[in-house]
Amino acid sequence: MNTLRPLALVVMGVSGSGKSTIGKLLSSKTDIPFIEGDHYHPEENIQKMTKGVALTDEDRIPWLRQLARVIHDHLEKGSSCILSCSALKADYRRILETDHNAQVKFIYLHGTPEMIVKRMADRQSHFMPLELLTSQFETLEYPVEASRYDTVDTPEHIANTIIHDLSQKTEFGVAGMGVMGSSISRNLASKDFRMALYNREVKGKEEQVAEQLKQAYGELTEAMAFNNLSDFVASLQSPRKILLMVPSGDAVDQLINDLLPLLSKGDVIIDGGNSHYKESSRRLNELRKKGIFFLGCGISGGEKGALEGPSLMPGGSSEGWVISRPFLMVLAARDKNNHPCCSFTGGMGSGHFIKMIHNGIEYAEMQLLAELYHLHKRSGQSAKEISKAFSSYNSGELNSYLLTITCSILSYQDNEGLLLETILDKAGNKGTGSWATISAAELGLPATMIASALFARYLSYFKDKRTAYDREYKFPKPTVNLEPNSIKNAYALARIINHIQGFEILQSYLKNVDHGCELSEVARLWTNGCIIRSELMNSLVEQLKTSSDLLLITQIKEQVQAWKPALESLIIEAIHAGIAVPSFTAALNYLNGITEKKGPANLIQAQRDFFGAHKYQKENDRTEKYYHTNWES
Ligand code: 6PG
Repeated sequence: MNTLRPLALVVMGVSGSGKSTIGKLLSSKTDIPFIEGDHYHPEENIQKMTKGVALTDEDRIPWLRQLARVIHDHLEKGSSCILSCSALKADYRRILETDHNAQVKFIYLHGTPEMIVKRMADRQSHFMPLELLTSQFETLEYPVEASRYDTVDTPEHIANTIIHDLSQKTEFGVAGMGVMGSSISRNLASKDFRMALYNREVKGKEEQVAEQLKQAYGELTEAMAFNNLSDFVASLQSPRKILLMVPSGDAVDQLINDLLPLLSKGDVIIDGGNSHYKESSRRLNELRKKGIFFLGCGISGGEKGALEGPSLMPGGSSEGWVISRPFLMVLAARDKNNHPCCSFTGGMGSGHFIKMIHNGIEYAEMQLLAELYHLHKRSGQSAKEISKAFSSYNSGELNSYLLTITCSILSYQDNEGLLLETILDKAGNKGTGSWATISAAELGLPATMIASALFARYLSYFKDKRTAYDREYKFPKPTVNLEPNSIKNAYALARIINHIQGFEILQSYLKNVDHGCELSEVARLWTNGCIIRSELMNSLVEQLKTSSDLLLITQIKEQVQAWKPALESLIIEAIHAGIAVPSFTAALNYLNGITEKKGPANLIQAQRDFFGAHKYQKENDRTEKYYHTNWES
């Protein structure tokens, strides 16, 4: 049987469903060794079962661990095995998978209680008395992740179908062969997954795209390429796992609508685009009603990340997660402890919410670097000197992916010299920064850094106006004085504030999400594969375990106190030189505001009450009563 990689096939189901019969038959047809799971029960368990006493979790766990070791030994040697094991609960199945979740496949033999009772009655030699069957059915947690075969068919037919499905059908489908879709497909195919690739056919524009991709890359040799959606869907093993990599918005809904008539209950759709989290929530609910599991999965890392391992943020259906977990875990980047940068983020559109905030933080991180670049340029430094200065910042806690690529950009020369200098200074955007700003506003949170970075991009877009006003006003442009150590500290502090604001938005959202993941886990997902990976993120993983209130963590408090003067100096220097530094300023203003007990909002309240009778509360008034004053009396 050609399965591309060694597999442990766990034939599961209640007693009497025919696990051993099918397991042995599969083994004789494929030459893959068969392991009878029941033979590994300790004597105490067998005695209990013979007496008709149901096994407890405590009885089963050592047995399952022993079976997991047997599976592990086979897979470590690079060989497949077939195991019969009831594997009734989800937790039992997780034990059997151990670290091999992409190589352990569950084959569920499904039968009605009546049918199983009849089969049991015919099998005198089996040590499981009939009375235990009821307890088995009660214990069974439906294995959504398993391929299901109905025991009404003959064993011969079931075994042949299983072999056909495993060796002829594909394991994971990707729809949309753009840059990200094709890179993800190549990534999974290189890990010996049998992939189904689909791209729509548009005459003269997108023709045979999947097929051409398959031809272009050796790792896709075993993949199946389609331009016909129903053939693509029919090629997939059940339950089907289909990752949509199409532009966010209508294209996602359109593709889902086209897929729906072709899917079966229990299949999974994963949207890997940059979709709005509310859309993901809506799709989750709509698809749940149709029996389809939906995951909105944030994916970060760009083309390279998709190819080598992105950071993955899947949220939505927990069943969808259980089913697609083995694939997503293998696809993802690895953190410093070699754990996948992928975990279930919780219900609703949480995966896409987290990705949206990732992008918001990304916007501000990029803007801070752009402001630094501006200051350096206006200090009179040559391109080479700027590049050297940025490289000197990129060590220790300041090391980050975005700073690293900025260093490369700052030294990139083409025929005309430094490429950067020839690029038009109008920043584009695809919308996630504005969604993040709007969402923070909806949650009532002062995400001033994301907003400042977003508006700086918008402002950059007015190139013609900027050019005209520059000519008109001719503001003086004095040279900036730079003090490298102070710049480093100012930059480090602004980044901390940016991350604090980002995690505050996440905290406010995730507390209302079912099974919403911990903030420290979000930080861990962002330590590799994604655009905002950095040394700071590594520290945040640990710091967020101690408190979500980052400004009160001792180390951060010391840094804030030590570096605030540097941030102030940088901003003063920029103001004197007439340079806009909206994100650095947003960082300092936030810090000044959030650390000031008595701010000026009392005046705002008084004004609101004056013109609109909106009322106000009084300082130190425990009753929290609202007052109104007739200000003009
Ligand atoms: C990532 C990026 C990715 C993409 C953004 C860019 O995490 O891999 O964030 O999602 O580059 O869409 O967004 P803008 O075009 O809005 O800058």
